[in-house]
Amino acid sequence: MKDIPLQGHGIPASRLAIGCMGFGGSWDETEPYTAEHKKQLEAVVDAALSIGINFFDHADIYTRGKAERIFGELLAARPALREQIIIQSKCGIQLADGTLPVRYNFSKQHILQSVDGILKRLGTEYIDILLLHRPDPLMEPEEVAEAIDQLKANGKVKHFGVSNMHSAHIEYLQSAIREPLIVNQLHLSLAHRHFIDQGLNINRDEGAATSFDPQLMTYMQQKRMQIQAWGPLAQGRYTGAIRSDATEAELLTAQYIERLAADKETSKEAILLGWLLKHPAGIQPVLGTTNASRVMACQDAACQAEQMTREEWWTLYATAGGSHKPSK
Ligand SMILES: NC(=O)c1ccc[n+]([C@@H]2O[C@H](COP(=O)([O-])OP(=O)(O)OC[C@H]3O[C@@H](n4cnc5c(N)ncnc54)[C@H](OP(=O)(O)O)[C@@H]3O)[C@@H](O)[C@H]2O)c1
Repeated sequence: MKDIPLQGHGIPASRLAIGCMGFGGSWDETEPYTAEHKKQLEAVVDAALSIGINFFDHADIYTRGKAERIFGELLAARPALREQIIIQSKCGIQLADGTLPVRYNFSKQHILQSVDGILKRLGTEYIDILLLHRPDPLMEPEEVAEAIDQLKANGKVKHFGVSNMHSAHIEYLQSAIREPLIVNQLHLSLAHRHFIDQGLNINRDEGAATSFDPQLMTYMQQKRMQIQAWGPLAQGRYTGAIRSDATEAELLTAQYIERLAADKETSKEAILLGWLLKHPAGIQPVLGTTNASRVMACQDAACQAEQMTREEWWTLYATAGGSHKPSK
């Protein structure tokens, strides 16, 4: 398996990452997390480390700050951990509060305050990567650049990236930001296939239906940006958490994944993730599991990607409902 782009940027990141959105209990900030939640996090971190995963993805908003706080408690209890892992967090979303709706905020003041909050909750002096979470329609690249310059200069953040952005957003921001934007985190999975559909359906009627930026994948590959996939387990819909309103395509895909996993003597998760990892962009899936045994079930994903035949990759895509109709 080829190196992932982050490694080309001198960041020794693992092929898979752990997403921390589910830690810290509920999204009700008044509800404290428990000793059980702490045990759950520690078990996931230990499972991850045991299979070489060193990358942890946060955001200031996850469980309203509790995900970072509980992670910070683990770091405080095990200080040696900090230097063994890569911590990424995000800012730029403000959750609804009082009468205010959810909103995005890339003002210099918000970015700087947000990073101070992240560092305080995690109990660390720096984070490795900061992502701008979702495009703010009111963003001013020069103002974002000022915030980034300050965070880089004072050592609070080592590297920068974005999330849920198209290539024009990235170009626009990068026109003012001196630091390279090295990550874009996007919703990508076998259940969320627009990134493949869009490229295949060029000049076809089916292509009109997707809103995915047609240039994005090739743009990021050319720029050697790290594409991270959020939602890579498709919330378990193909691997055990079959939805009550599952479509026929979902049920058939789940059956096909189960059969492949049995034939290859691996887990269903490894097949599902293998489909993403086979993409030549070197996609880094961000696993949203809070379950240590599910982390272990993902261990074989890179190996399955290498062994997956083109026929299996296309059959997974088509069975899941890929909109592309092959030309005759
Ligand atoms: N940038 C963004 O805008 C954005 C948005 C959303 C998420 N993210 C990041 O991406 C990470 C992953 O996203 P995600 O959590 O939406 O996606 P995911 O990894 O596709 O799904 C994880 C969820 O699916 C459940 N699940 C998976 N397999 C299952 C199975 N076989 N049976 C039952 N449940 C199963 C997990 O439960 P268990 O915990 O029980 O395993 C967990 O609740 C997040 O943690 C976060 O770091 C980023």
